[in-house]
Amino acid sequence: MKKQLYTLLTGLTLVIGTLSIALPAFATTTVEVYKSPTCGCCSKWVDHMRDHGFTVITKDVGNKEIRQKVGMSETLGSCHTALVNGYVMEGHIPAPDIIRFLKERPDALGLAVPDMPHGSPGMEGQRVDPYNVLKVNAPGDTRRDTEIYQRYDPYAKKTASPAPASPAPSADTEGFSSIMRLKN
Ligand code: CU
Ligand code: CU
Repeated sequence: MKKQLYTLLTGLTLVIGTLSIALPAFATTTVEVYKSPTCGCCSKWVDHMRDHGFTVITKDVGNKEIRQKVGMSETLGSCHTALVNGYVMEGHIPAPDIIRFLKERPDALGLAVPDMPHGSPGMEGQRVDPYNVLKVNAPGDTRRDTEIYQRYDPYAKKTASPAPASPAPSADTEGFSSIMRLKN
């Protein structure tokens, strides 16, 4: 009997332990999303954020005013603007990038995915385009002031899959060459 009880308790401890590991630290993080009441892709992005454990409050008042108020440049503008932990998140940013950013807590205004790239969270469909998540360092910074925080390039993955005979290029070289390609 004692042994059974012990086994049961050990089992319970394991279950509770696993549960607390499974619950992410950002589970209670609240995101305030300013969006248009009629925008379907905004709602899909809100669902994407909820699926990643965020608590989302939506403000269906559009995002032009708030974007201006918080200093997110129109050159970085998208269909919705979100506020979280004192940061500004503009557009269809993948939740994992926001989670990483909130862990890193950089001295910055926030992140932005300008416009509405096909294939970004909330913009899923047949078409998938490459896009970058941009880090916006200060209020008023325009697109050219930003840094690339994360790249999403479906074509880069496809061309990278056959193993090249030459040594694999470093991440830096790869980034550089794709910037050059974009300029051509
Ligand atoms: Cu959108
Ligand atoms: Cu939107």
